[in-house]
Amino acid sequence: MEISKRVWLSTPTYHEEEIEYITKAIETNWKSTVGENIDEVERLMCEKTGCKYSVAVTNGTAALHLAVIEAGIGKGDYVLCSDMTFCASVNPVIYEGAIPVLIDSEYDTWNMDPVALEKAFKLYPSAKAVICVNLYGTPSKLDEIRRICDEHHAILIEDAAESFGATFKGKQSGSFGHLNVISFNGNKIITGSAGGCFLTDDEQAARHVRKLSTQAKEPVPWYQHKEIGYNYRISNIIAGIIRGQLPYLEEHIAQKKAIYQRYQEGLSDLPLIMNPYTSDSKPNYWLSCILIDENAMCAQERTDEEVTFRTEKGKSCPTEIYETLQKLNIESRPIWKPLHMQPIFADCPVVSVDDAHSVCEDIFARGLCLPSDNKMTPETQEAVIQIIRSCFE
Ligand SMILES: Cc1ncc(COP(=O)(O)O)c(C=O)c1O
Repeated sequence: MEISKRVWLSTPTYHEEEIEYITKAIETNWKSTVGENIDEVERLMCEKTGCKYSVAVTNGTAALHLAVIEAGIGKGDYVLCSDMTFCASVNPVIYEGAIPVLIDSEYDTWNMDPVALEKAFKLYPSAKAVICVNLYGTPSKLDEIRRICDEHHAILIEDAAESFGATFKGKQSGSFGHLNVISFNGNKIITGSAGGCFLTDDEQAARHVRKLSTQAKEPVPWYQHKEIGYNYRISNIIAGIIRGQLPYLEEHIAQKKAIYQRYQEGLSDLPLIMNPYTSDSKPNYWLSCILIDENAMCAQERTDEEVTFRTEKGKSCPTEIYETLQKLNIESRPIWKPLHMQPIFADCPVVSVDDAHSVCEDIFARGLCLPSDNKMTPETQEAVIQIIRSCFE
C-alpha cells in the first residue's frame, strides 16, 4: 500500500464542542484567565481522577514547577526522579536549584524501579520528594512507589503528563501522588493545544498553588505580594478546547488500545515485544512502542550527534526501522533518551539496581515509538506493520 499523507505519532483530535466553548468565551468576553471553561475543566478533572482539588495552568511543566515548589524543594535538596522521561519532568527541580537523582527503570513497565528507589533513599536519605513518571501512558508500580515515599516521609509527585485516564489497581493515574500533574500538550491524549493540571487532595496545597499561579497576589484590593508568584494560570479559551475534549477521553483510549493490539498481533512473530504493562494496570496506550530482542539487534552506534547501523539478515534496530518509515513519510521516534545521557544532566547522580547495567539505556538502545495517532486507519497501520516486518527480512 502506498502512503500518500504523512502518518503521525500522535496528533490532536477535533470535537465539535470545542468551538462552541471557545466561541462562547469570546462572545461573552471571558477571554482572560477566569471563566466558566476553567471552572468546568477543574470540576471535570476532579471528577475523573478522584482528586479533591485541581488547578488548571498553562502547561504540564508549569504544574510540575508549582508541585516542586509546593513540596518545599529548595537549593541543594535531592529529588529522586525517573531517569527515562522527557526533560520537563526534571527541569523544575533545576529551576529551584535542587539536585535531581536519576532513578533507573524496570523492565515490567519501563518506569521507575521501586528497588532502585529504595536504594536511592539509602544513598540520599534526606531526599524530600520523588517525581515518578508513567511513560507512554503505562502506570508505574504506583502502590510500591507510594509506600516507599511514605516510609521515607517524602512527597510523591506523580508526573501523569502522559497517562491521563490510565488506571492502576482500579484507581486513576494522577491521583497516587500527594501532588499530581497532567499535561494537555498538543500531542497528548486530551489536548487544549497547551495546558496542564495540578491535582491533589490537600486543600491547603491547592489553594497555595492557585495563588502562586496568578502572581501570588494577596487578597486585598491593591497589588500586594509576600512571595514570588508565576503567570501560570490557564486561559479560558484554551480551557474551552480541553472542556470540549474531556468527554472523549475513554473513546480516545479505546482507539489507542485498538492500535496497540493491532501492532501486537501484526508483529507477534517478530523478535520483539510491545511496551509492557502489569496485569493490575490499564494503560491509556498513548504511544505504542517496540523493544527488539537483544539477539535480533543488528549493529547500531549512537553518539550525541549521529547514529549509524549495519543491516543484517533476520535482524534490525530502531534506527533502521525509524529511517525506513521516515523515507515513506511515516513518523516514529526513538524511546525518550535517558536524562543521565543528556549533556545537560550528565552531572546528576544516577541510581540503578545493578551499577553495571542501566535498564533505561538498554531500552533506549533497542526501543522505538511507533505511529499511534488515534485517527490512523487499520489499512494505514497494516502498511506500517508490513514496513516494520520488511526490516527484519
Ligand atoms: C512525562 C512528561 N512530563 C512533563 C511534560 C510537560 O508537559 P507540557 O508539555 O504540557 O509542559 C511532558 C510533555 O510534554 C511529559 O511527557
